[in-house]
Amino acid sequence: MTTVPTPAKGLEGVVAAATRLSDVRGDIGQLIYCGYDINELAGKVTFEEVVHLLHHDHLPNRQELEELKGLLAVKRELPKGVVNIIKTFPKDTPPMHAIRTAVSALGCFDPEADNNSMDENRLKALRLIARIPMITAYFHRHRQGKSLLPPDPSMGEAANFLYLIDGEKPSAEKIKTLDMCYVLHADHGMNASTFSARVTIATLSDMYSAITSAIGTLKGPLHGGANEGVIKMLQEIGSLDRVDDYIAEALAQKKKIMGIGHRVYKTLDPRAPHLKRMAQILSAKIGEPKWIQMSERIAELMLNEKNLHANVEFLFRHGLLLARHSDGPVHADLCHLANGRLDCSRAGATGRQPVDPPAKPVLRSGRIEGGAD
Ligand SMILES: CC(C)(COP(=O)(O)OP(=O)(O)OC[C@H]1O[C@@H](n2cnc3c(N)ncnc32)[C@H](O)[C@@H]1OP(=O)(O)O)[C@@H](O)C(=O)NCCC(=O)NCCS
Repeated sequence: MTTVPTPAKGLEGVVAAATRLSDVRGDIGQLIYCGYDINELAGKVTFEEVVHLLHHDHLPNRQELEELKGLLAVKRELPKGVVNIIKTFPKDTPPMHAIRTAVSALGCFDPEADNNSMDENRLKALRLIARIPMITAYFHRHRQGKSLLPPDPSMGEAANFLYLIDGEKPSAEKIKTLDMCYVLHADHGMNASTFSARVTIATLSDMYSAITSAIGTLKGPLHGGANEGVIKMLQEIGSLDRVDDYIAEALAQKKKIMGIGHRVYKTLDPRAPHLKRMAQILSAKIGEPKWIQMSERIAELMLNEKNLHANVEFLFRHGLLLARHSDGPVHADLCHLANGRLDCSRAGATGRQPVDPPAKPVLRSGRIEGGAD
């Protein structure tokens, strides 16, 4: 008699690939990028430095960093055809639909879309990193009926995104907050959207198709879409004094509280304290403590009631909300990846493991001077 194999629940425990990029240690709440503990990077290096680390396996020296920043800045401009497509989107379409469709359209305007050589794919990756924030900002301006601004090549990725959204030079605090959000979301092992992208690219399809698959997956409420759910929930609750009743009622109805719980981290997500600190600083600065207070109370209740921690979607939303200082649901960037039920497949980490004490970037005047190798 043949026995039917039992499928792993949500691919739990299945090692689907090996990677040197990141190692997610859910049991001890540790996240490592190319040998660096995230705690050694957050607040000390910029998103562009992390991009260099992930692409070249070492932190950049000054010259490498300037080259990368220059490359990203010149690659931002969107093809006119893609801008025109964005302008035809219904203003009330959810942002993730707009971003997914515009990224897919980028492939139609790239004559090298199907050239899968390593050199060409490296360039495509940079183009996507530079252009997805442009798409996001342009869709946001379009739906508000505002003009679409040209990118500012003198600004880094986080600053330029905020500038394009708000139409004014962002403050240093806002840039720092968003930049840290980018750093903390730059890689996360074999999460659901990465898994989708890898399945697509493994058929020898092209990078635009792979990232389109990934964005479609990221959009789901159990994955990156949870952060939109968090803001909807906070708006629905409305004030701190209503939090306890709302949560009690939701739990009684067996509803999932968005932004709480994690498939892999069974202790506190190591990215959470960084986002929380930044959100607190910014919240104190702009004098809008209500959202933070409500979030802290929800997190406290969920820890007490269900022994579940707030996840990065919960805190990401606050970082972004406060960085923008508005409640418009702007969602997702290429680097924004998190976990959901389907992302239980794993990547075996093949990269350098952090040494004890962990390797630290060499910082001089707040800037990395030497590679990390
Ligand atoms: C992320 C998520 C999909 C993980 O699901 P999971 O692996 O099944 O979670 P666990 O096995 O740890 O769940 C343990 C228990 O807590 C409950 N639980 C988990 N997350 C919960 C939440 N956010 N709200 C209420 N209850 C929750 C489960 O239903 C389960 O209850 P049970 O034992 O009575 O069946 C889930 O926590 C979730 O849906 N969270 C909300 C969406 C979200 O924020 N997603 C972004 C993740 S970064």
